[in-house]
Amino acid sequence: MPTRKKFVAGNWKMNTTLAEAKALGAAVAKGVGTDTNVTVAVCPPFPWLVPVGEAIKGSAVALGAQDVHYEKKGAFTGEVSPAMLIEAGCKYAIVGHSERRHILGESETAINHKVHTALEEGLSVILCMGETLAERERNLQERVFQRQVFAACAGLTDEQFQRLVIAYEPVWAIGTGKVATPDQAQEAHAFVRTKLRQLYGDKIADTTPILYGGSVTPETTAGLMSKPDVDGALVGGASLKADSFVAIVKAAG
Ligand code: G3P
Repeated sequence: MPTRKKFVAGNWKMNTTLAEAKALGAAVAKGVGTDTNVTVAVCPPFPWLVPVGEAIKGSAVALGAQDVHYEKKGAFTGEVSPAMLIEAGCKYAIVGHSERRHILGESETAINHKVHTALEEGLSVILCMGETLAERERNLQERVFQRQVFAACAGLTDEQFQRLVIAYEPVWAIGTGKVATPDQAQEAHAFVRTKLRQLYGDKIADTTPILYGGSVTPETTAGLMSKPDVDGALVGGASLKADSFVAIVKAAG
């Protein structure tokens, strides 16, 4: 059984003032400390990346962004390049979050382009995927997973895969309080890993972390993490409370 280090990331979404962001980052850094057997990251809104990066400096907490542009530079008003994120202190970028897919209309093509450019520029990517309630009610989830994984990962090199993390986030569980059961999460993760194995081979399948996201709380973490193909969590609401997020990190370890 391959061992994959657990990974817990907090997606703060469009929340916090500057003062709240700095305080949250500092409290998470204090709670996580400098030595943890779990990889930890926080993903603040773009404007707070540098100050939160300062607040977590010296701890085991890494910095991530919630999105990234698909070109390296140029006339793209309002966009942020991978190089800018790296200069701001980011190690990670979330790509393809369901809110960007379903609210902002981000296409599979744009997501694949973002994954490529972010990895080429040196970021690690947290690639989000997952089915809607309508797709699950019609039992189409596995068809959705296959499409999303293949589209987003098309053309990646073995080396680039080493900096890819996948986050399975059933849309029906995001922000709803309806967390997937550990068995539901395991079933989805195992299918995605099987697809990775079929498409890209054993090494990539066995080493790619697959996180669960969708109403994760300290109370539900241990059950989710007990499953063999659940390698961590991408946390939304609970990441805005330092004690809850740190409790999730500890429960994942
Ligand atoms: O990216 C993580 C997020 O979509 C999950 O949100 O609030 O359900 O934990 P939440």
